[in-house]
Amino acid sequence: MKIAIGCDHGGFKLKIAVVKHLQEKNIEVKDFGTYTEESCDYPDFAVKVSEEVVQGNFDFGIVICGTGIGISIAANKVPGARAALCHDTFSAHSTREHNNANILALGERVIGVGLALDIVDIFLSTDFQGGRHERRVSKISEIEKKYFK
Ligand code: RB5
Repeated sequence: MKIAIGCDHGGFKLKIAVVKHLQEKNIEVKDFGTYTEESCDYPDFAVKVSEEVVQGNFDFGIVICGTGIGISIAANKVPGARAALCHDTFSAHSTREHNNANILALGERVIGVGLALDIVDIFLSTDFQGGRHERRVSKISEIEKKYFK
């Protein structure tokens, strides 16, 4: 499994913890920045991770900012990206099962590291259920085709 990860300054510390956690589990992870705690703009890193995932270079993306909100909104502007902001484990497995989310968004200022790592593990180990959910995810793609010209 290959993971693309990115953050802004508000998510920098949590990103370091997530990268370490994945590496300890022998999961390949590529860090698309930011690489310091200097103030920066979350859309710059959201787009890098989303593009890599949508192009099929990585299985999943993880994006982190202070709240997880800005970076998830930006990540979802890339057609084909389905970024889900999850701050609980129920959402983490449900968004994989129902939405086939391909990017996990987290907010460093919202939850602790322990919960964040549990969310990462659950998100990465849960399969899409397909079936009726396939139809609904396809309808999201139809919306993209209508508006992303
Ligand atoms: C940066 O201060 C902060 O606005 C950003 O990390 C994020 O929370 C935005 O949604």
